Amino acid sequence: MKITVVGAGAVGASCAEYIAIKNFASEVVILDIKEGFAEGKAMDLMQTSSLNNFDTKIIGTTNDYLKTADSNICIITSGIPRKPGMTREELIGINAGIVREVSSNLIKYSPDTIIIVVSNPMDTMTYLAYKTLDIPKNKIIGMGGALDSARFKYRLAEALNAPISDVDGMVIGGHSDKGMVPLISKATRNSVRVSNFLSEERLNQVKEDTKVGGATLTKLLGTSAWYAPGAAVSALVHSIACNHNKIFPCSVLLEGEYGLHDLCIGVPVTLGKNGIEKIIELDLNSQDLAHLKESAKGVKKTNSILNL
Ligand code: LAC
Repeated sequence: MKITVVGAGAVGASCAEYIAIKNFASEVVILDIKEGFAEGKAMDLMQTSSLNNFDTKIIGTTNDYLKTADSNICIITSGIPRKPGMTREELIGINAGIVREVSSNLIKYSPDTIIIVVSNPMDTMTYLAYKTLDIPKNKIIGMGGALDSARFKYRLAEALNAPISDVDGMVIGGHSDKGMVPLISKATRNSVRVSNFLSEERLNQVKEDTKVGGATLTKLLGTSAWYAPGAAVSALVHSIACNHNKIFPCSVLLEGEYGLHDLCIGVPVTLGKNGIEKIIELDLNSQDLAHLKESAKGVKKTNSILNL
């Protein structure tokens, strides 16, 4: 299993690190345009291998796509991250050009690859990659929901004062402050609905804290987060690489599911050796469905900027 990570910034390097530490891939290639940067990150990470007990070989390259040839999975993290006060949508101008170029280069050398898009605004960048590349829709996956769900579980565990392993919950919809739909109605603590333990007011707080999860970190860090995004990508990659068929909310092309068409947005899917194995249609209550439709409107509005 060969995996390429484009972008050796904080998110890309975290992806590579978490993938390597899980020790299921033979090779991880990190590619960046900044001279020597990916090579340096790869060398630094390789020097952790005897300490962290992994055999995955990590190599770095300055923009040489030949080194990425025959990758099974490629992850696009390149582009500019947001600064405090910015929305993910404001990154569209610069990142669209980068995602278009990077995805075309990747597919030239790895025509059968599965692509995971992380660059923001992620749902639009995933749709852009789908429109740019002539590859089946099961092979284009946007990473956002897995991260947003991890942040949701963190906030739920905090509110419940419970260990996080006791908590289950999912966020669907667009990967944006306004577009996220944390499914409070389906969240549980050990199979018991969270509404049994928390007031409506507290649950609304959890919902709002989840939706601004990325913005909160951007404000604290001065740039966007990387540990949880990297861990979320590695979880998707692991399920695909080992054909585990785990369920994650991912941004995928919808063709009528949830009554939505011609956009990529977060819904639960199973991930296995073919990428998206199945889109799962949840039985949503009217409020959650209305929020999802509203979120889709927002994603389509962002997509319209690109005239795809
Ligand atoms: C975040 C970025 C990766 O939510 O979108 O942290």
